[in-house]
Amino acid sequence: MCGVIGYCGHRPAVPLVLEGLKRLEYRGYDSAGLAFLQVNKLEVIRSAGKLCNLEEKVAKTANTFAPVSIGHTRWATHGLPVEKNSHPHKSNNNALAIVHNGIIENFQELKDELLKKGYVFYSDTDTEVLANLIADELDCLLQAKFSKNYAELQTEIEHTPQLSAQYLPYVEEAFCNAIKKAYGAYAVVLLSPLIPRHILAARLSAPLLLGIGIEEHFIASDVPAFLPYTRDVVFLDDNEFVTMSAGSYEVKNIYSGEKIAKTVHHIPWDLQGAAKDGYKHFMLKEIMEQPRVLQECLVGRVQDDLVCLPELDTLPVPDSIRIIACGTSYNAGLWSQYYLEQFAEIPVTVEIASEFRYRKPILNKNELIVVISQSGETADTLGALRLCREKGYPVLGICNVLGSSVAREASASVYTQAGPEISVASTKAMLSQMVVLLLLALYYGQRKKLACPVKEILHELRALPDILERALPAMRERAKELALQYAFAKSFFYLGRGTGYSLALEGALKLKELSYIHAEGYATGEIKHGPIALIEPDFPTFALAFDDDNFSKVRSGILEIKSRQGRVISVLQEGTSLENDDIWYIPKTNLPEFLALPAMQLFSYEMADYLGKDVDQPRNLAKSVTVE
Ligand code: M6R
Repeated sequence: MCGVIGYCGHRPAVPLVLEGLKRLEYRGYDSAGLAFLQVNKLEVIRSAGKLCNLEEKVAKTANTFAPVSIGHTRWATHGLPVEKNSHPHKSNNNALAIVHNGIIENFQELKDELLKKGYVFYSDTDTEVLANLIADELDCLLQAKFSKNYAELQTEIEHTPQLSAQYLPYVEEAFCNAIKKAYGAYAVVLLSPLIPRHILAARLSAPLLLGIGIEEHFIASDVPAFLPYTRDVVFLDDNEFVTMSAGSYEVKNIYSGEKIAKTVHHIPWDLQGAAKDGYKHFMLKEIMEQPRVLQECLVGRVQDDLVCLPELDTLPVPDSIRIIACGTSYNAGLWSQYYLEQFAEIPVTVEIASEFRYRKPILNKNELIVVISQSGETADTLGALRLCREKGYPVLGICNVLGSSVAREASASVYTQAGPEISVASTKAMLSQMVVLLLLALYYGQRKKLACPVKEILHELRALPDILERALPAMRERAKELALQYAFAKSFFYLGRGTGYSLALEGALKLKELSYIHAEGYATGEIKHGPIALIEPDFPTFALAFDDDNFSKVRSGILEIKSRQGRVISVLQEGTSLENDDIWYIPKTNLPEFLALPAMQLFSYEMADYLGKDVDQPRNLAKSVTVE
């Protein structure tokens, strides 16, 4: 979802902000813009569509060497993705410009108040309302102190920028006053000619981090935005705001104004981790690096054939587990139900976060809540986490992004250690979640002293990176062949049974989000309860038939489809066979899901690439869904 960035330092800020916006592109966006000061006057450049449009406009603007700038990639929530709705938004009196990620829920009430005072709105956004609300607060404060409003002070400000220090407390106060009146979830960054060397930024339930460089500071929605310059990061918490300049930063509570001492974290990623590395798309790179991800997920979690999850040692063994997540992370949770019940003998419920949080859920006594989120910032997942914490339940967060809200707010968190996932479509993150969830099942089996095959499963897991590494090149070729053959399809079924069921849901999700081909995932046994009516020659099925106790049943399901002239791609493990047109063999292991998942990811990737879709940034999607 929207990306924000701000820079104060010794480098030309405008090109740096543009570069930063490019590294935030993966979050999904439909327009972009930036602001800087030109002879102490606000300049705003905005453009609908891709960043190249903004770049073209910036290139035509003279003297963009300002040392302070803010920028934004917008994912439309209020109003169409057109230039007038792009950020930054200026206040009517040009006293400030802001960029904003999130939603201001009471924007209409605030707007009505401002309209009564004579403010004019040029966009359909909630952000422009906030910009004018801050300016309105500021004018009141300036009037009270200097007996002049911003417009009356403007000439003085333009000619004596050295006076800016005296205005800083008033801009800070106005910023906080306005934010206290705005309900919702947001990250806001402000630039004003009154304080030309500073940027203010505040956070409420939307990611915002400060990058600490030498004589330069960055503020952004995510680390890649400033990764070439620094890996030292301060994570802002809800209700905090920061005032930063090139040489200093100060974090305070929005409500009390108290200073807050923040810890500086060192991010272990490097730029290469967030670069395409010679691959055509981030998605392909992220699929192909899964053997390494499998290996790294195990680091520090396995010792002497035992699973170590010290993060959980202080929590009691639960009587039941409730897993809550969205999208791909939900599918990973659903997958783990089989293993948690089998190895840990703990009953498991799996819930979609947006449904869970708006029911009146009845939680069991001694229940552990597990929330899964790659980004750790998904609004619904966070909402569910908070609800469970308020009810006094322990929450385990499984997430990938270091220092994310889920990681910080959960009672305990386990990182999936997959490295930055840039492509909007989640691939390696799911694989890493599956590893952690499998380890969780073994861990509880161990703690309950059950006869669970910890040693055997760990052996299988350790062998997987090599098996997958060797299999991937041929898998990619097969995915390409099949994508070409099936590109005619307007709809697809994905079928799986047992541990294949949740993967079928994931396969369908990947195909629709990337190639825009309609796809539905079903439990194989469900197909004859209605969906089979749709089968005809141009409605193909992608079926997972693992070599397990379910094989013969899955085989019958596939044959039923074939006898209705349906075409089927069957993913089979080597050593099994089936009467079918398009078989896709994956190597034999006892954990076939870890090979079937990349196979399905590659099929969707090749299909989308063949059909000329925007693989890394599919239309209408955002990497991290920070609004409900
Ligand atoms: O960051 P999260 O894991 O919480 O994200 C949840 C979903 O938004 C995400 O998995 C989404 O479904 C992906 N686009 C799937 O590829």
